[in-house]
Amino acid sequence: MIEVKNLNKSFGDEHVLKDISVLFEEGKVNMIIGQSGSGKSVFTKCVVGLHKPDTGEVLYEGKNFLEMDIDEKTEIRTNIGMLFQASALFDSMTVEENIMFPLTMFTNKSKAEMLTRANECLDRVNLKGVNKAYPAEISGGMQKRIAIARAIAMKPKFLFCDEPNSGLDPQTAIVIDNLIRDLTYEMNITTVVITHDMNSVIEIGDNIMFIYKGEKWWEGSKEDILRTDNKEIGDFVYASEFMKTLRNKLA
Ligand SMILES: Nc1ncnc2c1ncn2[C@@H]1O[C@H](COP(=O)(O)OP(=O)(O)O)[C@@H](O)[C@H]1O
Ligand SMILES: [Mg+2]
Repeated sequence: MIEVKNLNKSFGDEHVLKDISVLFEEGKVNMIIGQSGSGKSVFTKCVVGLHKPDTGEVLYEGKNFLEMDIDEKTEIRTNIGMLFQASALFDSMTVEENIMFPLTMFTNKSKAEMLTRANECLDRVNLKGVNKAYPAEISGGMQKRIAIARAIAMKPKFLFCDEPNSGLDPQTAIVIDNLIRDLTYEMNITTVVITHDMNSVIEIGDNIMFIYKGEKWWEGSKEDILRTDNKEIGDFVYASEFMKTLRNKLA
């Protein structure tokens, strides 16, 4: 579980995050949605310690990350898996070396143990046997699955995914979404997914926070989001003609 309390962050005169408080539950897909530029990525970077908030608290299982000593921070960091917008695989490393990378950085496992874990992770993302391929040799969807395999290699308690299916076709995006959801449930991970894809919200969102111009504007479940009459949510959810048509058909 991660709890954020009254988080504020400015860059110069721009007050990007305005007093955001939220709870991310364990074993759930916690989603952050909102327009481009609303503050989703800055918020997430504050939570994982890549940005320092101006004020506020970020509690990992009850303990404020911002007040931890270096050993406690390292302990949290080794329990965080991350999946970025671009898969961010190392081009010069094979698939297997990419997945083993966090293990070589943060554990004392032997080469054989690391390889065993890499193979388990590859198997879990249904990519057994591609060990020796380089990222450039495989499709975008496969690269995403490798990035997921790398993100779970350390058996994280917390998983952050920033726009995990951007750049993928809709069917591949669903495969990635489902994989994130299934891993969250299987491994009881506190998962945070940033997206502006309503399809993902409806497929896998357990808890949803809508950020509007740096404020937490709304939160609820995916059932709630289709029923709310909040104007800004409506503008976001029904931005496309397709969704508007769907809404009118259902009405
Ligand atoms: N490192 C930075 N320095 C200054 N301004 C930034 C920085 N990162 C983001 N911003 C600004 O913060 C706002 C929110 O950005 P971001 O969180 O990336 O939005 P998004 O919701 O699309 O992820 C934007 O106006 C952006 O220009
Ligand atoms: Mg972003």
